Amino acid sequence: MNQERRDRKMHLGAFFHPTGNHVAAWLHPNAQIDAGANFEHYASITQTAERGKFDLMFVADAVAVRDGKLQALRRWPQYMAYFDPLTLLPALAAVTKNIGVVATATTSYNEPYHIARKFASLDHISLGRAGWNVVTSSAVNEAWNFGRDTHYAHDQRYDRANEFVEVVKGLWDSWEDDAFIRDRSTEIYFDPAKLHTLNHEGQHFKVRGPLNVARPPQGHPVLFQAGSSEAGRESAARFAEGVFTPQHTLPEAQDFYRDIKGRMAKYGRKPEALKIMPGLNAIVGRTRKEAEEAHRFLQSKIHPDVGLELLSIQLDNMDLSQYDLDGPLPDIPDHVAAETGQASMRNIVRWSKEEGLTIRQIYERYAGARGQRTVIGSPVEIADDMERWFRNYGVDGFLYHPSHLPGGLDAFVDLVIPELQNRGLFREEYEGKTLRENMGLERPKSRYAAEGCRAKQGG
Ligand SMILES: Cc1cc2nc3c(=O)[nH]c(=O)nc-3n(C[C@H](O)[C@H](O)[C@H](O)COP(=O)(O)O)c2cc1C
Repeated sequence: MNQERRDRKMHLGAFFHPTGNHVAAWLHPNAQIDAGANFEHYASITQTAERGKFDLMFVADAVAVRDGKLQALRRWPQYMAYFDPLTLLPALAAVTKNIGVVATATTSYNEPYHIARKFASLDHISLGRAGWNVVTSSAVNEAWNFGRDTHYAHDQRYDRANEFVEVVKGLWDSWEDDAFIRDRSTEIYFDPAKLHTLNHEGQHFKVRGPLNVARPPQGHPVLFQAGSSEAGRESAARFAEGVFTPQHTLPEAQDFYRDIKGRMAKYGRKPEALKIMPGLNAIVGRTRKEAEEAHRFLQSKIHPDVGLELLSIQLDNMDLSQYDLDGPLPDIPDHVAAETGQASMRNIVRWSKEEGLTIRQIYERYAGARGQRTVIGSPVEIADDMERWFRNYGVDGFLYHPSHLPGGLDAFVDLVIPELQNRGLFREEYEGKTLRENMGLERPKSRYAAEGCRAKQGG
């Protein structure tokens, strides 16, 4: 066991998919059936995660209804109709005190000024608990809602994302922390020397600034990233402070951990400025048997139409309908694999080639965990697994995906969290007030204050 690791605590996020992570979650009697349209439900699960001292809750997003065969989608309501995260999160911030509120926003179909403004506002409203998961979108149906017929190519998306993040960070620095004097005696509200115009002109964006929101309490809301391709890893090393990633074995997770942290130095960053939090689809019961039964129940509810549809989406909409469910996965054409370059596809191909799984077995594995690693067991078994990955430098923490909500989360908070706390692996109280403080991340200095620069405000 590593000495340094004994003195540290892991970080935990809770990923709130509507009704839960499992593709059949809504069929579980302990799932909120109308989750996507029920604010009370989100308020309650966020409060439960806060009771469990999670660093953060996270919601994913896409700017489109999921596209596919309605025959399958009618049985799979996740991500068909749900709240806009940047409307949901401020409301959740108002009913919680400590937990970080983190959401996805795509860099492909947004403008940096909008995103900078919204997350800066969320950071003020939550008193320093906001985080942004920077994604590039992977589905073409998002393009169709934004005047495009095709999605940007993979590397082009990341190129745009990198510049997008630079602009957003620049806009967050528009006002220095002490720019607002608000002095009734001198009748001066702000110091113009502490207001900065970005004047960005790049390959993808032209943004003058400044931002019409004061500098966020955290300086910058915490930046997350969730892509594992070559371009995704490079972006993570460049700007991310938290990384969500599917990792299935400890050696792979260790490689990923070393790889990402190793890339950071060239961007002038220290390894501890980024926390790697792979997905964990933990299904817990008071005993292993109880956990296995809970898992079996959910797996039994995966309709073949849904399983095939889910797999086909991961394989760039490849039509699998003519293949035998209990036979092998057909070869994936090279151009499909090359175009998407996605980690989830690589995993599916590996399960087929190396483990010889049938189409049904693959979709059952994928649908149950939505591409994340599944661990099923008693609280002690789950904590053992998490401890092993943490102590051995596979992770800095985990993004826990409750299989169904609220039932799965309740069980994790009541059974696994105390076990982790007893082992000294997880906090008993929040360390600080902001998400940055709780994640052990430094507050970034304003680029202008850091330079001692006092550029004159123009316009
Ligand atoms: C935990 C997790 C959450 C994600 N959330 C979103 C999301 O909300 N919206 C989205 O468009 N993509 C989301 N993604 C997809 C990634 O942003 C990325 O597009 C995908 O992993 C492929 O990236 P890559 O080609 O760099 O591997 C998520 C991925 C992971 C692992």
